[in-house]
Amino acid sequence: MAKILRRERLVPNLHVLEVSAPEVARKSLPGQFVMVMPDERGERIPLTIADWDREKGSVTAVFMTVGTTTHKLARLSAGDEIPVFVGPLGKPSDIQNYGTVLLAGGCFGIAAIYPIARALKEAGNKVITLIDVKAGYLLYWEEKLRKVSDRFLVSARDHRFATKDYVPAKIKSLLAEGAKVDRAVAIGCTYLMYSACEATRPAGIKTMVSLNPIMVDGTGMCGACRCAVEGKTRFACVDGPDFDGHAVDWAELFARRKSYLDDEIRSLCYWERTQLAPCA
Ligand SMILES: Cc1cc2nc3c(=O)[nH]c(=O)nc-3n(C[C@H](O)[C@H](O)[C@H](O)COP(=O)(O)OP(=O)(O)OC[C@H]3O[C@@H](n4cnc5c(N)ncnc54)[C@H](O)[C@@H]3O)c2cc1C
Ligand code: FES
Repeated sequence: MAKILRRERLVPNLHVLEVSAPEVARKSLPGQFVMVMPDERGERIPLTIADWDREKGSVTAVFMTVGTTTHKLARLSAGDEIPVFVGPLGKPSDIQNYGTVLLAGGCFGIAAIYPIARALKEAGNKVITLIDVKAGYLLYWEEKLRKVSDRFLVSARDHRFATKDYVPAKIKSLLAEGAKVDRAVAIGCTYLMYSACEATRPAGIKTMVSLNPIMVDGTGMCGACRCAVEGKTRFACVDGPDFDGHAVDWAELFARRKSYLDDEIRSLCYWERTQLAPCA
């Protein structure tokens, strides 16, 4: 059992979850993830480690409410205990001094890029952070990210930012204005990662993505997270989750992520019904 220290709504569809997990905190590195299960009857889901405090023994993740498990997590509070909080899993992100690194993040990826940006900055890189939000009220962790960035950009679709750009347009205009980018990292929904890779491909900028296939055990045993990279089968939980985005078979990833869509919708409808009128 792991005790929740904090579960707060950051913006309407995203929550921060801080859990007491000293062993996980001691070993966490940027780019790794945890498997989390909100109750004994639920499923395990992967969440990226967004921060950790080794002295306090806590690990932080940010999650987006999309289906049953993430809605269950959003109902938990400080003091509650969860049966599974396992990690750190996956290979850490490659951190070296590349020169200038562009980090693009959207939805939960805004938090997921934070420890990577921090580590890249500490390694001597110039860090350009590009955050994607549909509207200004969905922006979070701006202060944290600004502290580890040399340049902080937002692509948004509302008046606050006087722009209607999506990530690829912003990347293209950045490159067109002459910005020298030696490497890129994109984390968020599958479409954001795919389109960021398409924007950096013509300039030949290596772009790392954190792949998000469905995971079951998170330890390389079940095969659920199978992806094709460079034409070879890879298991995102043990071979990744970071991969070169220009070598990923995106069509396969998009299709495999939808494998259980009908069941997921049924599960969420059932869960919401029973929450509104709980069984005796
Ligand atoms: C390595 C990795 C890191 C991730 N990090 C984060 C994070 O930091 N924050 C965050 O909000 N989300 C993260 N995700 C995605 C997150 O795991 C899914 O959104 C979550 O599992 C959805 O569960 P659900 O029951 O709420 O939704 P469901 O209704 O069950 O599923 C909604 C959609 O989420 C995907 N999904 C469902 N189950 C899983 C699963 N077991 N593993 C992966 N994807 C699944 C499917 O595409 C599905 O259509 C990460 C995924 C991976 C693989
Ligand atoms: S989640 Fe089972 S092999 Fe990766």
